[in-house]
Amino acid sequence: MVAVVTGASRGLGAVLAASFLARGMSVATCARTRPDAPDAASVHSTMTDDDRWMASSVDVTDAVGLDQFAASVVERFGRIDVWVSNAGVIAPIGPLVAADPEALRAHVATNVLGVMHGAAAFARHVRRRPGGGVLVTVSSGAATSAYEGWGPYCASKAAAEMLTEVVGLEEAEHGLIAYSVSPGVLDTEMQAEIRSASIKAFPAVDRFHRIHAEGNWTDMEWVAECIVTQCIDPATRDLPVAGSGSVRFRVPDRPDPR
Ligand SMILES: NC(=O)c1ccc[n+]([C@@H]2O[C@H](COP(=O)([O-])OP(=O)(O)OC[C@H]3O[C@@H](n4cnc5c(N)ncnc54)[C@H](OP(=O)(O)O)[C@@H]3O)[C@@H](O)[C@H]2O)c1
Repeated sequence: MVAVVTGASRGLGAVLAASFLARGMSVATCARTRPDAPDAASVHSTMTDDDRWMASSVDVTDAVGLDQFAASVVERFGRIDVWVSNAGVIAPIGPLVAADPEALRAHVATNVLGVMHGAAAFARHVRRRPGGGVLVTVSSGAATSAYEGWGPYCASKAAAEMLTEVVGLEEAEHGLIAYSVSPGVLDTEMQAEIRSASIKAFPAVDRFHRIHAEGNWTDMEWVAECIVTQCIDPATRDLPVAGSGSVRFRVPDRPDPR
């Protein structure tokens, strides 16, 4: 099985890519900064990383670049079975009235257009060969809960979820199924950026300081395990499948927190 993970240079994307590799999948990664190969020791594999790993510098706002990346993955691994649109940004944080229009444009370009370009590139590939595929859009609770100071982020994640649902309907006859996954609160650079916001810009910031102080994060390997079992692996998948539009899926609490 071949998976693409966008935004894999750090944070959740890097952990997802390493986890998929450890499960025996071939993995193609991208971000504006070319992702590093995961540490071989963490992959528990007898194969070398190079056999099942590729990484490219791609900006998801660049539709042509993303298409070329998809083509290079197919050339290298023969096909793409899973596409995870994970690349995302939180900035700008603050009331909309204070937002720089260029910052808004950049936000939407990554969080909305990036998901559109990726879904389109993947759906075109799935249409060209038999076997279907799984589209996973990394969303957020912000898609369905309004937070003051997160106007662009709430709006872009809601848009990404709806786009994913539409693609799930449009591509069902080609065997593509689509999920939006809300992963929980993760200990990444995005969270550091959130904590750096003033209470005036982001009134709920205290909640994120508390999570940080208590170490009350969602474990990213658990997120990867949930994505594989709930979305990707037909043997363990227990969420609805093709023909139903997309499924909006929240990663549950880990039953055995470590
Ligand atoms: N952290 C959380 O608590 C949390 C909660 C819910 C949902 N999420 C979602 O989870 C996803 C990953 O977030 P994270 O916390 O891991 O964030 P992160 O640590 O800031 O990582 C974001 C990743 O996206 C890449 N990226 C950003 N803009 C890009 C672009 N235009 N083209 C290509 N790659 C781009 C970054 O790499 P480059 O800068 O090198 O391009 C990086 O690899 C995001 O969609 C986020 O909204 C996060």
